[in-house]
Amino acid sequence: MRAFLVLVGCLVAASAFAQSLPTPSPAQDRLKALSGDPVALRAAVDAGKKATFFCANCHGDDGISKTPDVPNLAGQNPAYLLEQIRKFGAGERKDAFMQGLIKVLKDEERVQVATYFASLPVRPSAADAAQVAKGKVLFERLCVRCHGEQARGNEAIARLAGQKLPYLQTTITRYRDRTGVRNNQLMSIATAGLKNEEILALANYLTQLP
Ligand code: HEC
Ligand code: HEC
Repeated sequence: MRAFLVLVGCLVAASAFAQSLPTPSPAQDRLKALSGDPVALRAAVDAGKKATFFCANCHGDDGISKTPDVPNLAGQNPAYLLEQIRKFGAGERKDAFMQGLIKVLKDEERVQVATYFASLPVRPSAADAAQVAKGKVLFERLCVRCHGEQARGNEAIARLAGQKLPYLQTTITRYRDRTGVRNNQLMSIATAGLKNEEILALANYLTQLP
């Protein structure tokens, strides 16, 4: 029985790990190859700057969005950006505008826009000090093991530090409520027990992190 439970535990851990990784694709392979080639990476970032002139209408010239419900893309992990672009394209993540737009981007352009936005500096926002203190405790208890000490994520997991507060709040609430706008088992489990005011505190904490 004990050995069985250990086995089940390992399987759950392994599937959780797999779920936190971006879906393998030629675009992700291309991104990996670029990360080991500074000259090609520079060229991709420059091409990405041109390819994102339209994105700037909402996400900002510098990847800092102009609207509270549009996420910042600056400094975000490129593999995460590429995975979200794939999800919009495949209809696994719902947003009528983004789903339509992303279909016109070819694989190479997707890689270029991801490397461009990832290369830009993050700009944190001011937040309520009491909420920040409350949010920090929750983050360290529930989120840090995946999103990392400073909420900067990694090659598989989103950066949260410096993200727009209303976007964070809406997104976390959607995972918790399993609205189907975004599906991620790990995030639904991690947020399942959160009250609305805890989500607000977490969003305050995350938005002001550099
Ligand atoms: C009309 C406004 C608009 C334009 C133009 C736009 N986006 Fe978006 N984008 C959004 C909104 C709104 C969301 C958040 C959707 C949601 O609530 O999940 C989003 C989300 C994203 C995300 C997910 C970010 C995250 O943190 O998960 C990526 C990646 C993205 N957009 C890339 C792009 C790219 C690349 C372009 C240009 C080719 C672009 N967007 C143009 C409005 C826009
Ligand atoms: C077991 C790992 C894990 C834990 C624990 C976890 N997350 Fe996540 N988180 C992820 C993964 C993986 C994604 C990307 C999911 C996707 O593609 O929709 C994500 C995405 C997010 C996003 C979307 C970011 C964006 O740019 O749209 C937010 C916000 C978020 N997490 C907040 C939290 C908060 C707050 C907690 C703690 C209450 C938490 N996460 C705990 C793994 C985790």
